[in-house]
Amino acid sequence: MAIDQGTTSTRGILFDAAARRVSVAQSEFPQHYPAPGWVEHDAERIWRDTLSTAREAIERAAVSLDGIAAIGIANQRETAVIWDRRTGQPIHRAIVWQDRRTSETCARLKADGAEDEVRARTGLLLDPYFSGTKIAWMLDHVAGARASAERGDLAFGTIDSFLLWRLTGGAVHATDVTNASRTLLWNIREQCWDEEMCRLLRVPSAILPAVHDNAHLYGTTTPDLFGRAIPITGIAGDQQAALFGQACFSPGTVKSTYGTGCFALLNTGTQAIASRHRLLTTPAYRLDGRTSFALEGSIFVAGAAVKWLRDGIGVITHASQTNDMATQVADSHGVYMVPAFVGLGAPHWDPDARGAIYGLTLGATQAHLARAALEAVGYQTMDLIDAMLADSGVRPAVMRVDGGMAANDWLCGFLADLLELPVERPAELETTARGAAFLAGLATGIWSGLAEIEALWSSGRRFEPSMPPERRAPLVAGWRDALRRTMLPKA
Ligand code: G3P
Repeated sequence: MAIDQGTTSTRGILFDAAARRVSVAQSEFPQHYPAPGWVEHDAERIWRDTLSTAREAIERAAVSLDGIAAIGIANQRETAVIWDRRTGQPIHRAIVWQDRRTSETCARLKADGAEDEVRARTGLLLDPYFSGTKIAWMLDHVAGARASAERGDLAFGTIDSFLLWRLTGGAVHATDVTNASRTLLWNIREQCWDEEMCRLLRVPSAILPAVHDNAHLYGTTTPDLFGRAIPITGIAGDQQAALFGQACFSPGTVKSTYGTGCFALLNTGTQAIASRHRLLTTPAYRLDGRTSFALEGSIFVAGAAVKWLRDGIGVITHASQTNDMATQVADSHGVYMVPAFVGLGAPHWDPDARGAIYGLTLGATQAHLARAALEAVGYQTMDLIDAMLADSGVRPAVMRVDGGMAANDWLCGFLADLLELPVERPAELETTARGAAFLAGLATGIWSGLAEIEALWSSGRRFEPSMPPERRAPLVAGWRDALRRTMLPKA
């Protein structure tokens, strides 16, 4: 059973030994925006949804409890939870990866010249995206929290860690190497919590979890939760889980996942490549103590722009409408959307940029706006792949895509055109959950190793690039111009 705890929804999914999906249960949960640029989640609600969706998935599959070999967890990364070790209660709402409240702290550290050191130790850079500055914010803003943390009474975790704690009845405080590596506190080369980073970000090490391989016996669920103790044997941040689910095991293979945001990861093997183009160096997975690394490009808004079209301004009533709307019109009519709703991620890293729409004329329609939102996902991916190419010198043969938006045929075709690469969509689009299931199944012997998992991957559809260069060039130039205008006030 995979638990896929994402930014906007929580899912329980059962897979059989052939990695076929047997049942799914899903629940969306509310986002809290207490101030502009702030994003919070109710960790209790996430826990309740995790339990209810897991139970529902088991019920729908109509399997006996003994048939469930293990649980694997994939989760939204960087989102920070701090809870009281005695009561198990969070001391504050979870501060979500998209939250920008610590942007000044990051700017100050940058101005002090700390970024090079941060990059060398963690593979990341100074941006409010990561957990470290969120932890310090909570410790400074919740009465008495810092003193309790120093006494060892509080525990910090990303969502996986909080769920693991709850699933094991408070017996286990741990996380995996991919989640640890997104905190700004984990030294990716030494493979340990970094004392210097803890000091810099003012995080007492007493609150940090133990860190393990991705396929590992983390603990067992308390029997009251599902009627039987089930081992939890796999954990990975959702983007690394998707890389695993896409079987991107060889250096040079790349995947891009389109969920709330978009995250492209290029496997670089045992080599941790330091990016010269503002990408992240991140563990892809660690098995039997051996780490494979990836270069990652993180875009904060992909599906979130479609959600905004639906919930924010009511241009659509269902996300799938964007496919038809985009194909109804020949082009975006010169309209460009720069979806910097929560700042810009890689490779620009501008936490203070905000969303903008350019090129509106009286001929612009809702369909053009929808198309511009989808096109922006393509342009941003193109910027990431260009940076990866420049960093690694590797031109991937194909780009594997997954996540909700990858179901959109028009978008996949546009991506192939912009990247000038074939884009391949797997038959199973739930690759994040599948990756978590693979990890859990590796630890329990359901699958023997990576070769067997690789053989289970199958293509659903392949999109070949077909746009002539003379059509592509002006589109890309328009995007660059829109981007420049969005970032102009700070430049
Ligand atoms: O780093 C944030 C990422 O893990 C969120 O993923 O799938 O919720 O957009 P998703």
